Amino acid sequence: MPVSDSTISALIDLNRADAEGLVAQLTSQLRALIATGRLGKGCALPSSRRLAGDLGVSRNTVTYAFEQLAAEGYLEASHGRRPVVTVDGSERIEGTGAVASKTRATRTQLSPWASKLKQTDWPMSYQAPLKPLRPGHGDFREFPNEVWARCLRRSAVHAARRELGPVNRTRLREALAHYLATSRGVRAIADQIMILPSAQAALSLIAAALITPGDEVWVEDPGYPGAAAAFRGSGARVTGMKLDAQGMQRVPEAPAPRLIFMTPSHQHPTGRLMSLERRTAFLGASQPGKTWIVEDDYDGEFHYDSRPVPALQGLDAHGRVFYVGTFSKAMTSDIRLGYLVAPPALAGILEIAQRHIGLIASSHVQEALAEFIADGHFLAHLRRVRRLYHARRDHLAEGLERHLGEVLTAEVPSGGIQLVARLRRGRADHAAVKRLGEAGVVTRALSSLALDKPRDHGLLLGFAAWRENEISAALRTMASCF
Ligand SMILES: Cc1ncc(COP(=O)(O)O)c(C=O)c1O
Repeated sequence: MPVSDSTISALIDLNRADAEGLVAQLTSQLRALIATGRLGKGCALPSSRRLAGDLGVSRNTVTYAFEQLAAEGYLEASHGRRPVVTVDGSERIEGTGAVASKTRATRTQLSPWASKLKQTDWPMSYQAPLKPLRPGHGDFREFPNEVWARCLRRSAVHAARRELGPVNRTRLREALAHYLATSRGVRAIADQIMILPSAQAALSLIAAALITPGDEVWVEDPGYPGAAAAFRGSGARVTGMKLDAQGMQRVPEAPAPRLIFMTPSHQHPTGRLMSLERRTAFLGASQPGKTWIVEDDYDGEFHYDSRPVPALQGLDAHGRVFYVGTFSKAMTSDIRLGYLVAPPALAGILEIAQRHIGLIASSHVQEALAEFIADGHFLAHLRRVRRLYHARRDHLAEGLERHLGEVLTAEVPSGGIQLVARLRRGRADHAAVKRLGEAGVVTRALSSLALDKPRDHGLLLGFAAWRENEISAALRTMASCF
């Protein structure tokens, strides 16, 4: 059904006081209206002059938003004509399997936090079909399900004999403290470790405990959208820090923020390793008790070219670093287990906060995992898949060079589960992702991971989850698409 210009204007709600600029707000609100089917395929949007007038913003603001959505494949915009929606909310957008619902946007009174959720496409855009070369996963098919099932069974059978009460099971905390010390150089006693349903839960817990609305938080740009989402959820002003070859950059003259979020082992998404010099600089900038660092080591188990670089947390002698990890990549994401190593001074209050929010992982699963680790199955699994993923990384990197070297430049990471291939020409990564998605290859646009205005354009390609023959087939399809 056609939607009138005035209805479209009325559906937009811009806030000049918001740290997110007007262009970003308008772009994300229009994107959400299209993605939810509120503005269907073929719907003509108001002209930039009309919409700018209705919303009381400059015409450039509207034009930039239209251009961005056209680049992402949501709109067709040509000079002198009203832009037209080119996708249906029920279709998969950019091959990511985004949106299903066509229900009407409601005007229910939501909290300020919840009312902003619909303006962002994270995490929907992370729910692409599970097909090559979807990034972000290990190979679940390689997980030793039979062994894991035995651990789960034993844990359930022994449940009646277990002490009730501790939300963070001692056996798992101790197993993790030992594993993290020996494998990642993390310095922690068991009491500092919270067992949570995910790394994302750890970020939300940190945000709830430390952020006062208006606090400044630095994140990597491009970076992991879940981090910005968690900190914004607590009212933080989130600023993106550019990257260079050494990882996240620090702006020396900028006043130290409340919190700095980083992925120093393999920067998400570029895979870059933060240099020791940069790590030391960030530690130096974080004053104990004032500026905290959150180190997200989401795939630090996977390193291929040299010995793994120890965690930043292990370099910190003053208890300024939160260390976050997850079993989503190393085991399977369905296991729903992550952890947080809190600075000693905050461990007690974080455990109380954890109970208040209810971010508690099942004791059955915690006990099963403690046994899985103690009996050596976890390390054995890691050793096996590390070899596989190493070969898959090389296979993808070589194939990209051989078949797509004219159009893409791969940045080969020393570890991790995915790599970035930059477009040699142009900035149309959304269009490329859409074209590849239609041909059956799932990728992610690098520009979609920008916090603000995208500076980087390319494709994020997963290698860990895909067998070499699957990678070869995907490369052939890709070569026919460019
Ligand atoms: C950098 C980074 N951190 C954290 C996570 C989330 O992990 P979890 O599934 O445990 O929430 C992801 C997931 O893709 C990630 O890429």
